[in-house]
Parts: sequence; structure tokens; C-alpha cells
Amino acid sequence: MNKATRKAVIAGNWKMNMTPSQTTALIEEMKPLVASADCEVVLCVPFVDIAAAIEAAKGSNIKIGAENVHFKASGAFTGEISADMLKETGVEYVVVGHSERRQYFGETDQTVNLRSLAAIKAGLKPIICVGETLEQRELGYTETLLKYQTKMALTNVSAEELKNVVIAYEPVWAIGTGVTATADQADEGNGYVRAAIAEAYGADVAETVTIQYGGSMNAGNAAELVSKVNVDGGLIGGASLKAADFSVIVKAASEQK
Ligand code: PGA
Repeated sequence: MNKATRKAVIAGNWKMNMTPSQTTALIEEMKPLVASADCEVVLCVPFVDIAAAIEAAKGSNIKIGAENVHFKASGAFTGEISADMLKETGVEYVVVGHSERRQYFGETDQTVNLRSLAAIKAGLKPIICVGETLEQRELGYTETLLKYQTKMALTNVSAEELKNVVIAYEPVWAIGTGVTATADQADEGNGYVRAAIAEAYGADVAETVTIQYGGSMNAGNAAELVSKVNVDGGLIGGASLKAADFSVIVKAASEQK
């Protein structure tokens, strides 16, 4: 195990928060606080905030991402956004398969795979989310489920394409609940994801893939979480809406190098 073989990525996931003017203000506040980061800094924002976010982040080290992408190139899919549309806005990343999308909007492992493929084809970097519910954990299915979700999400993704893919292990029971996985639980979950990648692509490839932890990561617990060998940064919800908290998390990941 060698963390130096992969890039730590701290990505904010704003979910359904922030108007365009609030976006500008928050990014202006964040820019100086994360300017000396020694990790990748990403903010995934609502579609309507993308233009403001790209403009505000210009010339800084903050990369902008979207929160979802449709799997078709174009057509009669009212309300959906294609990968090419996103690419042209200037976003670099896109969250795919977040548990809220799976839970409330009918995402399946198959659509997560299709959306990931569409993103990759358009030159976007998907941040693919996997994670078990509390019930699945208590029944002892965490490893099986994480390996299955990971392999399903990566179906038909080549080893070369995998270089532009980030996986986020997000235990559903830890998202937005204030209940964080312990650092050991996070490391174990991320380890299952890495093992699944090793089974599909070989151990050498698996060592290079960035695997984040997500779920109530905050300024107080980030340092311990990212100190774990399998935890290459985080996908941050609530704490990414506060510049000071987010910058502490970025700093924690930067100091891990
Ligand atoms: P949270 O969300 O940090 O608010 O728990 C994480 C996520 O959903 O990505």
C-alpha cells in the first residue's frame, strides 16, 4: 500500500443548496483559504450554479464539478443534462450515483454505470459513489455490496479510462446524519472498493485509483479519516458549504502527502 501513488481529492458536494449569487460569494471566500492546497480541490455544484462557479473559480486552484449527468447524448429527456453539455460549461468532474440519487430518483447500478461511461466519453471525471445502508451493514453484506456496486459501476471502463475516475465510499447511514464512520470503518470500506478494483484490473492499477470517503466528514474528523492508507480524500456535503470548515479539510488532506 502506498498513498503516494495516487492523488488526494477533496470534493465538495453542495447538493440542492446555493443560488448563483451565493455561489460567487462562497467561492470568493474559499479561494484564498485553499490557495496553497497540496491536493485536488473540487466543488460539485447545482447545474444552475455552474456558470457562476466557473467564473468565480477562474485563475484559482478550485475545479468545478456537476452533481449528476444523463447517460444519453441528447433527446427527449426533459429536465436532464448531457455529458457534452456539461463539458462545454467547463466543469471537470461530475458526481455519479450519489446515494440520494439512488434512494430518491431511482438510480440503479446499471444507470450509474451508463452515466459513468457517458461522463468518461465526454472527457469528464466521474466521482462514482458506492455505499451500504445500515440494514445491509448489520446483515453483514458490506463487503459483498461494495464490491458488487464498484464492479457494476465500472463495467466496460478500461484501465486507461480508470485513470480519470474517482470512487467515493459513502456509507448511506453516515450521510447528512452527523454519524461518521470511524476511521477504521472508512479504511475498511475503501479497502473493499480497492480490492474490487484489484480483482477486475489487477493490484497495480488498484493502487493508483483515488478512493474518497464521504459521510459527515468535517473539520474535526477529517485529519484522522484521511490519515488512513485507503482514504484518498473525501466527498464533503454539509461542511463544504462553510468556507472555513472546508479549508480545514483541504489542509488535512494536503498534510497527508
Ligand atoms: P455529508 O454528505 O458530508 O453532509 O454527510 C456527504 C455526501 O453526501 O457526499
